[in-house]
Amino acid sequence: MYISKHIKTIKFGCWFYCLSVCFIACKPSVVPIATFESGDYTGWIVNGDAFGLVPSAGALDRQNVVSGYDGIYLVNSFHGGDDTRGEMLSPEFVIERDYINFLLGGGMGAGVFIALEVGGKRVFETRPIVESEMLQWYSWNVEDFCGQKAVIRIADNQCGSWGHILVDQIEMGNRAKSDFLFDYEVVVDITKPYVLIPVEDNVPELKVAVCHEDKKLMEDMFIRMAQTKIDYWIPINVERYMGQRIIFRCNHIKRSSVGYKQIKQSSTFSPASSEPYRPAYHFTPPYGWMNDPNGMVYSNGKWHLFYQYNPYGAMWGNMHWGHAVSEDLLHWEHLPVALAPDSLGSIFSGSAVIDENNTASFGENAMVAVYTSAGRWQTQSLAYSLDDGRTFAKYAGNPVLADSTCVDFRDPKVFWHAASGKWIMSLAKSQTITFYASRNLTDWEKLSSFGEGIGEHGGVWKCPDLFPMKTDDGQGKWVLLVSINPGGPNEGSATQYFIGDFDGKEFKADNLPYPLWIDYGRDNYAGVTWNNVPDGRRVFIGWMSNWDYANQVPTVCFRNGMTLPRELSLKHNGKNFVLSSCPVAECLALRGKPAVYPTQRIEHDDVAIDELLQDNDGCFEVEMVIKPNGASVFGFGFTNNKGDYLNYMFDKTRQILSVNRQEAGLAHFSDKFACISEAPLPDAEEYAVRLLFDKASTELFVNEGEVVVTSLVFPRDVFNRMTFFSPDSNWTVKDLRVYRLGLD
Ligand code: FRU
Repeated sequence: MYISKHIKTIKFGCWFYCLSVCFIACKPSVVPIATFESGDYTGWIVNGDAFGLVPSAGALDRQNVVSGYDGIYLVNSFHGGDDTRGEMLSPEFVIERDYINFLLGGGMGAGVFIALEVGGKRVFETRPIVESEMLQWYSWNVEDFCGQKAVIRIADNQCGSWGHILVDQIEMGNRAKSDFLFDYEVVVDITKPYVLIPVEDNVPELKVAVCHEDKKLMEDMFIRMAQTKIDYWIPINVERYMGQRIIFRCNHIKRSSVGYKQIKQSSTFSPASSEPYRPAYHFTPPYGWMNDPNGMVYSNGKWHLFYQYNPYGAMWGNMHWGHAVSEDLLHWEHLPVALAPDSLGSIFSGSAVIDENNTASFGENAMVAVYTSAGRWQTQSLAYSLDDGRTFAKYAGNPVLADSTCVDFRDPKVFWHAASGKWIMSLAKSQTITFYASRNLTDWEKLSSFGEGIGEHGGVWKCPDLFPMKTDDGQGKWVLLVSINPGGPNEGSATQYFIGDFDGKEFKADNLPYPLWIDYGRDNYAGVTWNNVPDGRRVFIGWMSNWDYANQVPTVCFRNGMTLPRELSLKHNGKNFVLSSCPVAECLALRGKPAVYPTQRIEHDDVAIDELLQDNDGCFEVEMVIKPNGASVFGFGFTNNKGDYLNYMFDKTRQILSVNRQEAGLAHFSDKFACISEAPLPDAEEYAVRLLFDKASTELFVNEGEVVVTSLVFPRDVFNRMTFFSPDSNWTVKDLRVYRLGLD
């Protein structure tokens, strides 16, 4: 194998000098210009509202984790979010050393920068080379200005995504602290099917172009190439370039990084499957990051599941559509990535249909994926497959739908509406759902828009799904699912629903006590239903995570899984229809022989089952019927040998069912994870409970899915002890069974 590494060019705009070889000794080392550690902006002129009144102690409200700054305070222009603007001007100082070094992070837009002005002239203007909340060292070579007076200007004149800047620790010194190398090339003569790249999650991404003789072989990849340690490896499949010389060109790297020196070829790649929090029977990607389920369609006896996928790391980015198929919704066969980014952008969420009548002229029974191309604008595109989803061709006329007046314009869900003989698309547009119609999937006309003044509006609306359902009494109703983030009932991401009528043009919601939620737990988001399912079944799957912490959960090679597939139904609760969801009947096949427990009366003292299952591996289901017998507060919980506990509390007085995972295991990775989730408790004589555990997930279904609470947990040992408690009265648990769950 031959791998050579060399620097092709070193450049950084026209203001940034090559700093790699200079070393000047003899002066006292560092002279601070601004450290912001006094916690105020004394001496600086601060305009606008982006920078706040004082420096920030780390991240601000709704900002992801900020790292890499020095001490307690830094300059952070995320006050009021990305859309605020402002400028800061330092007091005048005299340049006394050859370099000015500073820590810099935030967005890369033209409106954010840090500049050096000497004698009223701007001599340097620098912006981050990567979008990141992690600050890194940058340097200016200022030897030509020694002895002159200067000021530093920090600007945030940028709105929209990444419209903020982070600055800290501005100092003069005798050497450059920045150690970036630009346009660094790793040359590989391909002799094996994989090139393995080492990744470290908590460092910024760098852009990697894969080239052969100066021709780009694929869209650029954004990779968190290891800087200080290797968290895991990701494979780039290069089988088709065997015998050729491939260049991996990194737009920048840090000379001190460990990663780029260890890029290697390999004959095999097998992702670690033995992580403690890898579920046994839920869908997870083989490696890498996953979010929304996409393109769900049933075809030729197979359930197709596509999904938002990052094959280059276990954090969000590089959106592709991953792909898997199953015959029973439980055993999934992983297939090659279905859709990769192209010149229109990365591949965001969408749906798939089977074009039985060849309306689009792609071919008989083409599987057509309708997805959002997320580039400079969000637009809607098509790709089609004539081999049942194995390979896709992008439609040459993409995009098929655009609207440059709207930033959030995405997640098309399409179905065939027989009554009007048209395809109907539901599309999330800011905080509404807009419906479009088409006869051929390529030309779309706007029908109507729904959502103003109804439902929850705490965040952008996403991932809609409109479908018909039969009610208990044989009537027909339409259901509209809408995911929202933030704004969920227990904060962060969640999915609300509306019940009403659709006439082929407009959706009219029934008068119900909105917002209504398909799941009150923190961990069921972006879920939609399969198209084309036989027997009138409506089968749903959600992403089992929450944007509040999805990028931080303590798994390694992969991040996040799907909920169990669930069958939806409309039930009347005495007052109105509610959308219920239960694990699909196929899930019964997961059950082993149950441990059966006699009816228990829970009086004043707690009752415990010390060992739910022998050799419990963390995958089990608890099924029981609770009779309150007049008790107003009662509950049950699970503990393990490490002192973790997870509690479920039913409070009939407050009509609240709460799930407490505050002490249920690991929670250090995000201050938003430990929490109590609350759901409305129906007023019933009995509560039939199903609760399914799969290593790191818990899914609670009460009264056949009338109330559902899905909660991730990261226990330090298996929950194998169950306790029943009754603070104020007595109640009964009957038909208690505990099943081991697993795939055979
Ligand atoms: C929801 C979402 C979608 C988008 C996708 C991007 O989780 O933001 O709206 O299409 O994720 O990965």
